[in-house]
Amino acid sequence: MTQKIDATLIPGDGIGPEIVAAAVQVLDALGAPFAWDVQAAGLAALHSAGDPLPQATLDSIRRTRLALKGPLETPSGGGYRSSNVRLREEFKLYANLRPVRTLVPGGRYENIDLVVVRENVEGLYTGYEHFIQIGDDPHAVAIATGVNTRQGARRLLEYAFAYAVAQGRRKVTLVHKANIMKALTGIFLETARQVYEQGYKGRIKMDEVIVDACAMKLVTNPWQFDVLVTTNLFGDILSDLAAGLIGGLGLAPGANIGTDAAIFEAVHGSAPDIAGKGLANPTALLLAAAMMLDHCGRPALAARLRGAIDQVLNADGLRTRDLGGTASTAEFTAAMARRLANG
Ligand code: NAI
Repeated sequence: MTQKIDATLIPGDGIGPEIVAAAVQVLDALGAPFAWDVQAAGLAALHSAGDPLPQATLDSIRRTRLALKGPLETPSGGGYRSSNVRLREEFKLYANLRPVRTLVPGGRYENIDLVVVRENVEGLYTGYEHFIQIGDDPHAVAIATGVNTRQGARRLLEYAFAYAVAQGRRKVTLVHKANIMKALTGIFLETARQVYEQGYKGRIKMDEVIVDACAMKLVTNPWQFDVLVTTNLFGDILSDLAAGLIGGLGLAPGANIGTDAAIFEAVHGSAPDIAGKGLANPTALLLAAAMMLDHCGRPALAARLRGAIDQVLNADGLRTRDLGGTASTAEFTAAMARRLANG
């Protein structure tokens, strides 16, 4: 009998429970060896346990060191701090890996195959923010402090270069804004040059691009890029942009890799506009599950899962509405299960 792999499962908010249920059904059909420990986080947990990141959820991930999670809702402006950011900090999930690959031909761009590697715990997402009151306006001035450390940058960059070499990639592009934020993103650029010179020169190419130019170049000629490595905020924005090149967020998975755990999820959020309607595309979460299988040393299962996604999308032509199709989440999931049962 295959040995079970303990893993935490977080349904999350909005479309989260729908796509997580779909992923579990598909992983069962695949015969993936996960033993799920279901835990709450996000708005759902605030309602059920009075805390958007309950201790029981943290304890579970500390035990399993592995999680598959649905999106978690975070209020904009006021309200509680993002549970996603807290999870990354708690488990030191310093590397966010977001591969973007064409799955459905015939879109605006063909043959996209990019990976965004994003620093996940530092930068402008550290949450050192405050307002200063002037007169009777409590929000007269807003201040945010970004923090990048040499050690944090080095850890992420070492990971990114090692990943790029191991995957047989041809080039790493360092994305920064060191012309303006000379200290905050300058330290990242400086460290990248050091890491490259010391360990990777001659093994892979590296070049540098300023983030605004990178955004433009991604739209005009995305094929010039291969692996993009950048700081937290830029990586968040550019990975959504890259997802747009291949037909949207419904197809973009992400892995949060750290010293203490690894958490796999879709890049997209809770999609409140379509939640509960049975319209969500579970593909991004399924691709995240494939990354999770690779991470757990089950590449054959991961390849079968990716193969079934390709067959359902392209041979069966079954697509959810975000991809221009008419399939519901349930129909897509059933087709996946059928493909896996027959394959
Ligand atoms: P979103 O990613 O939830 O939605 C953006 C657009 O993409 C919407 O039109 C939505 O319907 C569509 N979309 C997203 N995923 C889809 C899927 N699987 N299938 C079909 N269509 C899909 O971004 P939004 O609206 O900015 O954020 C909503 C909430 O999600 C916010 O509270 C935000 O904080 C949270 N969020 C959570 C993330 C996480 O848990 N990792 C990541 C991003 C946002």
